[in-house]
Amino acid sequence: MKYNNALVTGGAGFIGSHLVDRLVEDGLAVTVIDNLQAGKLENLEDARDKITFVKGDVKDVELLKRILQGIDIVFILGANASVPYSVENPRYDFETNALGTFNVLEASINSDVKKVVYASSAAVYGEPEYTPMDEKHPMHPISPYGASKLAGETTGMAFKETYGLNFASIRIFNTYGPRQPRYVMYDFIMKLRKNQKKLNVLGTGEQVRDYCYVSDMVDAFMLVAEKGDDIYNAAGGVPTSIRELAELMVSEISPGAEIQYGGKTWKGDINTLIADITKLKNLGFAPKVDLRNGVKRMIEWFEEKN
Ligand SMILES: NC(=O)c1ccc[n+]([C@@H]2O[C@H](COP(=O)([O-])OP(=O)(O)OC[C@H]3O[C@@H](n4cnc5c(N)ncnc54)[C@H](O)[C@@H]3O)[C@@H](O)[C@H]2O)c1
Repeated sequence: MKYNNALVTGGAGFIGSHLVDRLVEDGLAVTVIDNLQAGKLENLEDARDKITFVKGDVKDVELLKRILQGIDIVFILGANASVPYSVENPRYDFETNALGTFNVLEASINSDVKKVVYASSAAVYGEPEYTPMDEKHPMHPISPYGASKLAGETTGMAFKETYGLNFASIRIFNTYGPRQPRYVMYDFIMKLRKNQKKLNVLGTGEQVRDYCYVSDMVDAFMLVAEKGDDIYNAAGGVPTSIRELAELMVSEISPGAEIQYGGKTWKGDINTLIADITKLKNLGFAPKVDLRNGVKRMIEWFEEKN
């Protein structure tokens, strides 16, 4: 990595903490800012002695000014990352994701930051007009979360044009792995622990996701940090239905358990998310962990930690 030091907002979270581990491994001096709304200090236990951890909020403009001094590269992951939470608390979501991102971008243009990499989301697209979705796919978010992530991304792109900020964005599709605090795999593991005979699945099972193991997503961040100057989809590249996922997880955790589909899912949940990752592949991206192995690693972690 051509930078000496990095700031990771949301670095105590799921993806952020894995990114921090990798940056430390690569020899960068890392500062993390996280308000621990969803993140956990234990996610940083491997890196803790080697980093500067600041418990703080991306809404705190003065604090951001201070900690951005001398930083080369900023990774913006600090956000409300839960779609259902954004539906319940749209103001919190917008203030954190849109205004919080604005604050970090503004502090970056007023400092010597050389690059900003933003964690955007597949949620900016909404339901697909065609699949796989490339980066030119129209954007019509269907949740407050999708709208707030899009606001952060477009602000970054506008700052690039207006102020020459070296900004790049990664539209993250569903990422999973150890330390993940929510969503379908986490739910399946929890449910099968409670009842080994039956798994209740929200929705029809026909929803499709393009899962990416977390270390592959960290690869995407490292690549874009080095070479990216635009907007990139990042996903595993193997679309999988929830039915296939449920069957895989049942076979790993509790073979023979009956799978029941509830029909309904939560508001803001997109039915089909399949990414075209050609653009990122052209930078050198090549996902390494397949779904079965990734799921096994996640279950192992869960068993160790819980
Ligand atoms: N996990 C996915 O599949 C996925 C998909 C698309 C986009 N993303 C994006 O990637 C990023 C990381 O997501 P994640 O899955 O690791 O979720 P996460 O909740 O584990 O990480 C988000 C982190 O931001 C912190 N945070 C929240 N509000 C904050 C605030 N006001 N100030 C400072 N820190 C704050 C949280 O405490 C948490 O540690 C987020 O920006 C999210 O929108 C994730």
